Amino acid sequence: MRIYKTKNYDEMSKKAASIIFSQVVLKPESVLGLATGSSPIGTYKQLIEWYKKGDIDFSQVVSCNLDEYKGLEKSNDQSYDYFMHHNFFDHINIKPENINIPNGMEADGEKECARYEAVINSLGGVDLQLLGIGHNGHIGFNEPEETFPKETHCVNLTKSTIDANARFFASEEDVPKQAYTMGIKTIMKAKKILIIASGKDKAEIIKKAFFGPITPFVPASILQLHNDVTLVGDEEALSLI
Ligand code: GLP
Repeated sequence: MRIYKTKNYDEMSKKAASIIFSQVVLKPESVLGLATGSSPIGTYKQLIEWYKKGDIDFSQVVSCNLDEYKGLEKSNDQSYDYFMHHNFFDHINIKPENINIPNGMEADGEKECARYEAVINSLGGVDLQLLGIGHNGHIGFNEPEETFPKETHCVNLTKSTIDANARFFASEEDVPKQAYTMGIKTIMKAKKILIIASGKDKAEIIKKAFFGPITPFVPASILQLHNDVTLVGDEEALSLI
């Protein structure tokens, strides 16, 4: 595992963006696994800036997002579909038909998860997967549990995740209680993984995930077994390692 320590969030974002930039330059038809949350916003901003300068071309890139809330319309400003368009896709030249996000409005969870997993497999898997990390070690929406969930599946969000995400909704009752997410196996199949973390509140979980035992109770700890992981974190997030 490679670890880059940066001064702050902006530097973290620039470093992460430069890794994605290199991936797209080296393989213009890359399949990028993308993430939501506050961590990657700066990374997307930097990529947009480079795109606007004419330095990067996304016309052949295919994207697969990690997860989506179940039951939120795409037009809901809290859906991850909305987030990705607003923070990234609407500002670059990725083709709409190359964008893949689980469909949160498909009520049949089994059907939607099987469809999404098949889409990823048909693309030959993800070349570079961008990840954030939840305070309990979740990646995507793979919450701590007895075993590592494998493929794309429907999860019941934990109280701590609902609480953490409540800041984005009018009230806690509005936070969806379920989501569709790539599974741990889906994520581990990515050829390269780029995980980003910023802020003091991530320091404890970064230490546990990357220097503690590998356990499904800290889902991100499985990344210790992947052979191409890059962690980019700012000084605060990496302060305990
Ligand atoms: C959500 C997302 C994750 C994300 C996590 C951390 O639960 N499903 O993909 O990594 O939040 O978010 P943040 O980057 O805002 O701390």
